[in-house]
Amino acid sequence: MNLIVAVDQNWAIGSGGDQLVYLSEDLKRFKALTLGHTVILGRKTLATFPGGRPLKGRRNLILSRSPDFAPAGGEVFSDLTALLAAAPADSFVIGGASVYAALLERCDTAYITKIDWSFPGADCGFPDLDKRPEWSVAEEGPELEEGGIPFRYVTYKRG
Ligand SMILES: NC(=O)c1ccc[n+]([C@@H]2O[C@H](COP(=O)([O-])OP(=O)(O)OC[C@H]3O[C@@H](n4cnc5c(N)ncnc54)[C@H](OP(=O)(O)O)[C@@H]3O)[C@@H](O)[C@H]2O)c1
Repeated sequence: MNLIVAVDQNWAIGSGGDQLVYLSEDLKRFKALTLGHTVILGRKTLATFPGGRPLKGRRNLILSRSPDFAPAGGEVFSDLTALLAAAPADSFVIGGASVYAALLERCDTAYITKIDWSFPGADCGFPDLDKRPEWSVAEEGPELEEGGIPFRYVTYKRG
């Protein structure tokens, strides 16, 4: 299983229920990597998408304990066991913080967008993979920049 996430210098990923920043280049890459695949996400992350709608061109597996939650175009699971039974091995975990934390151990490839910036209002994060001996950097791209914000793509592999 894969995961994809954008982190800042402190491995923070969100603020006030939304992304820290939207980088159009990163969004394009996210689309290119995930299109045609299954994505796994939490109900709060779905709420950040345009219109709160599941992503097109991908099978959306959404975690929620709310029995009435049934967004068109998505499949809702009330527990991880049921979701994992439905998730193919090439799925992408796309957030948020609670879902990354629950499924990190199931993933073997992590596509990390490292934003070389510190966002003071950040209120949720992702585990620092540089401090996890089971993860190592497999590929590190060049420094890119958008709107004055430097970032790079780093792929981590388990093992
Ligand atoms: N930087 C990035 O790449 C990135 C990517 C994605 C998200 N984010 C950010 O992450 C933040 C959201 O993260 P979050 O942790 O607050 O929310 P989340 O993980 O997106 O969603 C949490 C919700 O998912 C459901 N859920 C989670 N675990 C479950 C389980 N084991 N069984 C059943 N339902 C479960 C619950 O929904 P119910 O309340 O409906 O029961 C829970 O309230 C936002 O700031 C968002 O912008 C950042």
